[in-house]
Amino acid sequence: MKLALWLALVAVAAAAFPRGAAAQNFTLPSLPYETDAFEPSIDNMTMTFHWTRHTNAFITNLNGQVLTKCPDLNGKSVLELVLAVGAKCSWNERRGWSARNSDCFTIPTECETLVRNNAGGLWNHGLFFLHNLAPAGSQKYADDASEELQTAIWEAFGDYDGLKANFSAAAAGVFGSGWAWVVVNDDGKLAIVTTPNQDNPLFANAPVKGLPILGIDVWEHAYYLKYYNVRASYISAFFDVINWKGVSDLYALAKEGAGSYATADVLKPAANWED
Ligand SMILES: *[C@@H]1O[C@H](CO)[C@@H](O)[C@H](O)[C@H]1NC(C)=O
Ligand SMILES: *[C@@H]1O[C@H](CO)[C@@H](O)[C@H](O)[C@H]1NC(C)=O
Ligand SMILES: *[C@@H]1O[C@H](CO)[C@@H](O)[C@H](O)[C@H]1NC(C)=O
Ligand SMILES: [Fe+2]
Repeated sequence: MKLALWLALVAVAAAAFPRGAAAQNFTLPSLPYETDAFEPSIDNMTMTFHWTRHTNAFITNLNGQVLTKCPDLNGKSVLELVLAVGAKCSWNERRGWSARNSDCFTIPTECETLVRNNAGGLWNHGLFFLHNLAPAGSQKYADDASEELQTAIWEAFGDYDGLKANFSAAAAGVFGSGWAWVVVNDDGKLAIVTTPNQDNPLFANAPVKGLPILGIDVWEHAYYLKYYNVRASYISAFFDVINWKGVSDLYALAKEGAGSYATADVLKPAANWED
């Protein structure tokens, strides 16, 4: 992502959550659906444990270790933390002297790894559970992905099958634990990116940046209870439970620009859960 775009994201993220006003602990959001609604693609036990244990652990760590070691981070939104991973502010910026970005802040050294893993983990799982997943049989790509998103997929990958082939190959190719993403890149085009562990293309130091609209968790905890070591079967099944409405909304925001994208809150269920 170009520096200017990233700075716009940071500025909007900071404005959306004014410092001090939101000094609070993170809490695990309620899921807007039943955990057994994804059978047979994703089993009930995996859905339950993945949210209440694995995702909740990021929250416990942020509220506990991170805020204890680095109390200055209290009140930062999960997006602000994610954008700050690997950020290097200039001497002027650190002192708020740069008109360009007075909100540039860096994660204290002692919290770098904790924030990278836990803010990354919470953001990634928020996107996955609350914006990217929809119960089996509830949505169809052709009916529920916006025309704009379908056109962009057609331009980038030929068609739905091209997207599926590309995304699946990327997800299968992640060595060990990590994620595969569909992002909107600097040129406003769709691209596929992978990240290790709980890293994210929004990190200031991400090797390939972009605004994620769809992500798949390929940690074993996301599929092992049902699929054992056969990651490819899980990836294929994931395509039957995608929230295309949620993905389309994120795509529309990303196309408007980094500032609009920053208004999306991955810790709140996607808008389509409200109807
Ligand atoms: C789904 O899992 C939860 C947690 O283990 C359990 O309480 C619930 O009864 C399960 N639902 C079904 C239909 O098995
Ligand atoms: C935040 O959470 C931690 C751990 O859950 C707790 O010990 C602490 O009292 C909480 N702080 C506030 C301000 O609620
Ligand atoms: C990914 O998409 C490109 C077109 O953008 C295509 O040339 C390529 O073969 C696809 N890769 C896979 C693994 O499907
Ligand atoms: Fe996970």
